[in-house]
Amino acid sequence: MIGRLNHVAIAVPDLDAAAAQYAGALGAKVGAPQDEPDHGVTVIFIELPNTKIELLYPLGDNSPIQGFLDKNPSGGIHHVCYEVEDIIAARDHLKASGARVLGDGEPKIGAHGKPVLFLHPKDFQGTLVELEQV
Ligand code: CO
Repeated sequence: MIGRLNHVAIAVPDLDAAAAQYAGALGAKVGAPQDEPDHGVTVIFIELPNTKIELLYPLGDNSPIQGFLDKNPSGGIHHVCYEVEDIIAARDHLKASGARVLGDGEPKIGAHGKPVLFLHPKDFQGTLVELEQV
């Protein structure tokens, strides 16, 4: 059911330092910071030949990644995002298999303007999973 790995999101405590490291030491194609007020994050997209990395930094007072950074002050992998063709069908299949969908279970428009859902990390080997309809 899942398709390509769309992105790996990494929460970082210092966005400028992380961007400089990816551009310099790792030699990656690093985009400009983008504020996503609806999601409480500032994001930098890094294009790799086969997928993307998203550097996430808290934006505003109630950022959903602040708690993660409090627990992981050096940063860390926050979630992975898999592509699906039909997010409602994917959600219903996952719920029927016992997985928990976060929030009210209805897809929201994600950082790329496409419908997304998040799955409970305790149901997926401790990893927060995002599904994005492509
Ligand atoms: Co994401």
